[in-house]
Formats: sequence, C-alpha cells, structure tokens
Amino acid sequence: MNIKPLSYETLPEAISLVDNIFPYQKDTMYENARIAFSASLDQDNPSSRSLLEQMQITEANYWVAIDENSGKVVGTTGLYTYAEDEAEAYWLGYTCVDPDCRGQGIGAKLVDFAIEKARSNDKKFLRLYTSNVPNQAVAQILYEKRGLLIIGEEQIQGSKFKKIYRELKL
Ligand SMILES: CC(C)(COP(=O)(O)OP(=O)(O)OC[C@H]1O[C@@H](n2cnc3c(N)ncnc32)[C@H](O)[C@@H]1OP(=O)(O)O)[C@@H](O)C(=O)NCCC(=O)NCCS
Repeated sequence: MNIKPLSYETLPEAISLVDNIFPYQKDTMYENARIAFSASLDQDNPSSRSLLEQMQITEANYWVAIDENSGKVVGTTGLYTYAEDEAEAYWLGYTCVDPDCRGQGIGAKLVDFAIEKARSNDKKFLRLYTSNVPNQAVAQILYEKRGLLIIGEEQIQGSKFKKIYRELKL
C-alpha cells in the first residue's frame, strides 16, 4: 500500500469511497467530500478558495492509500485548517478505509502518516471530530492508542449520537 497526495486521477475514486462510508455527509455543504477534495486540488483558484471558505477551511490537503496490486484507492485521510484556530491546529479528516480492506493496518498507517505530516509543521495541536455511531467504533480505538484524546462531546441535533472532539498535542 502506498500513500500518495490526492490527484485529479484518484479524485473520483476517493470521492466515491468517502461518500460510501459517510453517506450522510454528501448532502451537507460543510462535510461534502466532492467539494472539499476538488477544491483542495485547485486552492489558488478564487472559486475553489471561496468554496473552502464556505466550509470555514483555510487550507486543505488530502491523501489516498493505493493498493499496489490493483492500483485502487483503498483509503483516504487529510489535514486541514479552520479559520478559527488555524494558527495552532491542524484537523484530521476524511479518514476511512474500504470495508473490504480493513484490519490490515491501512487505517493505522494513514493516521500515523497524517500525524507525522502535522508534526513536520509548526502547529501545536492535531484535532478531529468523530462520533459514537457504531461504524466509527474502530476509529475510537485507533485514535485513543495514538493519544488523540477526547476534549469535548456534544449531542448531534435530531440524533441519538454524539459528536466527539479529540486532540493530540504535537
Ligand atoms: C477506522 C478505520 C479507518 C480503520 O481502518 P483499518 O485499516 O481497518 O484499521 P487498522 O487495520 O489499521 O487497525 C487500526 C487499529 O484498530 C485495531 N482494530 C482494527 N480492527 C479492529 C476491530 N474490529 N476491533 C478492535 N480493534 C480493531 C487494530 O488492532 C489497529 O491497532 P493499532 O493502532 O495498534 O495498529 C476503518 O475502520 C474505517 O474506515 N471506519 C469507518 C470510517 C471511520 O470511522 N473513520 C473515522 C471517522 S472520524
């Protein structure tokens, strides 16, 4: 498995994977992978910048995990900054692995890769939000092991689930 920056070539597969794993996000503006991924590839373009700004994002970089044999995108991850804490924090986002390829260490490699990337810059924190929906349970184990500890929780409106905020001091 190789981790590579998201490119126009891998964009359709990356969007399809994320939309499949987080289906409720594609109907939102704030969490729409098609918008975030596409705009991240063209951040100097004013219309891309404007789309990212509408998501409160000031900088966004995404990576894909590619299976060496099939050449397919089997995972994604990303680091982005929000306007409100861009001086001190990166946010980890869109971390997921194709359900057919789970349990082989790909998710761990993607998160470790992103942590290393975040450490190579001068931010103080790596933050993320996740939730206690059952299909994100393994992610909690993965994050906890890496010291991405819970710093806040809030009820998701109209849902029985909670949004969970995590943070790692870099
Ligand atoms: C979370 C996710 C990315 C993990 O991907 P993966 O490739 O299966 O994970 P790995 O095989 O690298 O395993 C990660 C860790 O969890 C542990 N783990 C994996 N599957 C597990 C399971 N079913 N039960 C308990 N622990 C498990 C592994 O032992 C591993 O431990 P390590 O960190 O010490 O190496 C994947 O399950 C996924 O896409 N989930 C849905 C999307 C999601 O929740 N994303 C995060 C949203 S914030």
